[in-house]
Amino acid sequence: MTDSLLDDLQASVSEAVAAVDGASDLEALDTIERSALGKKGFFTAAKKAVGGLEPDERKAAGQGINEAKATLDQAIAARKSALQTSARAAQYESERLDLTEVPATASVGHAHIVTQTWEELEDVFVGMGFRVAEGPQVETDWHNFDAMNIPKGHPARDGFDTIYVNHGEPGSTLLRTHTSPVQMRTMLEQEPPIYVIAPGRVFRRDTADATHMPVFHQLEGLVIDRNISLADLAGTIDSFVEAYFGKTFPSRLRPNYFPFTEPSAEFDLQQPDGSWLEMGGCGMVHPNVLRAGGVDPEEWSAFAFGFGMDRLALMKYGVDDLRDMFANDQRFLAQF
Ligand code: PHE
Repeated sequence: MTDSLLDDLQASVSEAVAAVDGASDLEALDTIERSALGKKGFFTAAKKAVGGLEPDERKAAGQGINEAKATLDQAIAARKSALQTSARAAQYESERLDLTEVPATASVGHAHIVTQTWEELEDVFVGMGFRVAEGPQVETDWHNFDAMNIPKGHPARDGFDTIYVNHGEPGSTLLRTHTSPVQMRTMLEQEPPIYVIAPGRVFRRDTADATHMPVFHQLEGLVIDRNISLADLAGTIDSFVEAYFGKTFPSRLRPNYFPFTEPSAEFDLQQPDGSWLEMGGCGMVHPNVLRAGGVDPEEWSAFAFGFGMDRLALMKYGVDDLRDMFANDQRFLAQF
């Protein structure tokens, strides 16, 4: 009795395995699986038949059924995985994009005007022998102010509309108001001579207008070497202006005050219409700043400058409102 039951089952399984191996897609496979293993399938029938066997025959019959089922399960799993692989390959093939030809209607983007300016200025200064330094945008009060000779309570602090960050001791963490803290980080990390620039984003609690933004971009320069003078500073400014604009502009240094430089100056460029445009600040690095950075002011002298990259781009491209640069209007951006 058991033998004939198992023989029949074996024959059904062989037939089903052959059908499984020949299934042409996942749907066909599913149909075969259901007809073999479903409620009306031959396995259910075989299990029911076991109930009618003598008790001593049941164990062998049950084992035989389990083995037969394992054979069929394995065949189904193998076919399923093969069909899935080829279905995926067919899908990839049908979704293939031809990227070798860009259609004439596609518009090709480009870097933002500020990014272009940033990269061009890096190239200009690297060409002059400077290296590029970086510092964090979230800065300590010490790097941004104290170390730059602006101790707590110093009136110059009020000139920077600082945005403080809720972190650590109140007032200890801020969004850097200028790129000058990178001077300090560089001095603490490197031995002079030092020739670096530090382009980066800076933040002030400022209302946006034609020449101001609460978030803008500065480029800091720092040179520390023996016998550096104001003449070297003026020469560096003229050289980079000529390299960036591709021509010379008359430039002038106007006396000014910064706590971290002495003497300090503002540098202006003369525009074609004769008017002077304020570009940034500069000066000989104050001995207190050099000392804070571990540099001996008796042995080394230094100059530094910092200007707004956005303003420089404004002048180069004749844009008259800084806000246009950050409004992300495609019609504006596509022009550069
Ligand atoms: N940090 C100054 C500012 O943001 C600019 C500056 C840099 C002035 C270096 C002197 C030297 O206004």
